[in-house]
Amino acid sequence: MPIQAAPARWILETDHTAYVFGLNQAGLLTHCYWGMRLPRPGDYPEPANPVFWAADGAAHFTPHEYPAYGGLSYVDPCLKVTFADGVRDLVLTYVEHELSHAPQPQLTLRLQDTAYPLRISLHYRLHEAYDLIERWAELENLGTEPVLVERAYSAKWTLPPGDDYRLTHLYGRHVDEFHIQREPLTQGLKTLESRRIIPSHHASPWFAVDRGADEDTGKVWFGTLAWSGNWKISAEVTEFASTRLSIGLNDWDFAWKLLPGQPFTTPAALAGFTPHGFGAASRALHDYVRDTLLPHGKTLHKVLYNSWEATLFNVDEASQSALAEIAAEMGVELFVMDDGWFHGRNWDNAGLGDWWPDEVKFPHGLGGLIHKVNRLGMDFGLWVEPEMVNPNSELYRAHPDWIIHWPGRARTESRNQLILNLGRPEVQEYLISVLDRILSENNIAFIKWDMNRNASEPGWVDAPGDPRELWVRYVQGLYRVWETLRQRHPQVIFQSCASGGGRADLGILRLADQVWVSDNTEATCRLDIQEGYSQFLPANTMEAWVTDADKGRVPLEFRFHVSMCGSLGVGGNLLEWSAEERALAAACIQQYKELRPIIQLGDQYRLRSPQQEQFSVVQYMSKDGTEGVLFAFRVHIPDYARVVKLPPVHLRGLEPAWLYRVEGIAGERSGLAWMETGLTLELENMHSKVLRIKRI
Ligand code: GLA
Repeated sequence: MPIQAAPARWILETDHTAYVFGLNQAGLLTHCYWGMRLPRPGDYPEPANPVFWAADGAAHFTPHEYPAYGGLSYVDPCLKVTFADGVRDLVLTYVEHELSHAPQPQLTLRLQDTAYPLRISLHYRLHEAYDLIERWAELENLGTEPVLVERAYSAKWTLPPGDDYRLTHLYGRHVDEFHIQREPLTQGLKTLESRRIIPSHHASPWFAVDRGADEDTGKVWFGTLAWSGNWKISAEVTEFASTRLSIGLNDWDFAWKLLPGQPFTTPAALAGFTPHGFGAASRALHDYVRDTLLPHGKTLHKVLYNSWEATLFNVDEASQSALAEIAAEMGVELFVMDDGWFHGRNWDNAGLGDWWPDEVKFPHGLGGLIHKVNRLGMDFGLWVEPEMVNPNSELYRAHPDWIIHWPGRARTESRNQLILNLGRPEVQEYLISVLDRILSENNIAFIKWDMNRNASEPGWVDAPGDPRELWVRYVQGLYRVWETLRQRHPQVIFQSCASGGGRADLGILRLADQVWVSDNTEATCRLDIQEGYSQFLPANTMEAWVTDADKGRVPLEFRFHVSMCGSLGVGGNLLEWSAEERALAAACIQQYKELRPIIQLGDQYRLRSPQQEQFSVVQYMSKDGTEGVLFAFRVHIPDYARVVKLPPVHLRGLEPAWLYRVEGIAGERSGLAWMETGLTLELENMHSKVLRIKRI
């Protein structure tokens, strides 16, 4: 039984791990264990019963499974409320539990305040094969007066006792996303968050914690939040050597007026444990995302062409057709027209909101271009940025109050645009009808959904509850629009873009199959960005174009090899590519088509880090272990190092006893030999190699 419920202790077991909590003698819901699965229920620790010590109470020392703000405890709480009479003390007691087994094992624990009619349900869902546990909380007001919720996290993850952990997280900025940071956790609170209405660019809702792990070995506890808005992760090391991480909606500028009978559900948090290092932690999330989350998880993504960097806003039927013809000759399968195609959109200062074809650029609509692209044997895709308006648009002139704003205050523009308040049902309905019409009237296989600014002046005067609900209602509204469109047009592949990787999270990947990872398309930067992205998201979601951003500085083959590590795309101005360049591109695209089942759907091993090393290697293996591919990149190693060979590359993920051959390397060897003795490559500066691995 994956979930065992003794009267006062719950044991949650996945294929290889276990998570245990129970009621201690004081009746407090207490975390007991998170780590390897053990042979017998009796092997797991019982809930601790801390003794009263000095100025602090026993509750302060208890590793609460889901602490509320109340009583004598100073650890970072998960839940904070104000009752209608002004009372801000919340003491939760256990009421009952409920078990269900399909489709996945699930446990719900019901807790209630000792005095007020507020009920909290803690939900646990097991994804056994991935060794992942999903948690979320639901709040119900059983009384007659509203309750103001000021913080409602999804989960608290308590680590085995100790204050000697290291935190890994992702940081960056627009055009420079997904840097990996490792730092010791010391006493106090380390906070990661987004306050921008989109989740990422500068940080990602993901963490990994270890005590000296590397890519292949060592214990790693890791987690993420399936939410595409403001989020927060707090890692707390207490004065009594206990380390805990909270994850959930950001409580900064957050409040939710919980009305009687209207439940509030937090986003889902997902976490796991592995004794096999950071690589295994990433692969568990990759598999989970591909198998269970993505709308078309097992569909191989087509090689696409995107016109943005070639034509910017200068799109029309002639310019796009010219690009499409060359793209088709090179083997491209999906042609995506980016920004600039809709009413009044000649630059970024007008048009957003008016989602019909520009009368000058497309006097007969999009049909002509789409037919042309389809006749060339390619699918057609379109860029949209539905959440936005330019003040210079018909939509804004008709509905100036639909945007996020405070009356009488500045409406600060960013990239000349303002944000529609997607919390408002009428805005949701408008976007659904406008986008539904575009998808119904045209043969569109792919939508790139963009979002190019962060929120400011977050006002909503006629908000249904507390105006600070905006941050959450906006994302709920976005999900609703997107879900409705997906239901009506299930075959369409959606891509999530927010000036590159600004909306890359497990919440949006229920709706979108892909992410435009960064507006930075320089191959050497991209190597670093892709390594960071792979910490929690799989290669098939990682759209990667070959552009002209580093033309002349980085060989075209190197640029292709970098993009082939994800879902390959091309974004250069093909009209300016020479015949040789087009031929090389066609050869790389052909090679990618042969390799893509392994790259998009296989297991990824990061053998040498581009963020750390000038010589980096990444390997992908098919799920059955019979074939793989190795991508090696040498950026710049100074001349003196020429006499020194590049360090050996130890393969991973091979069956130890099977025999394998690696393209370009003499001899056949056992999987164990390739993994233990490795292979040596020769590469010049700014060169790359793709080597196939095959079982014989
Ligand atoms: C954002 C996207 C780009 C492109 C432009 C269009 O910056 O990230 O890829 O679509 O918008 O304006």
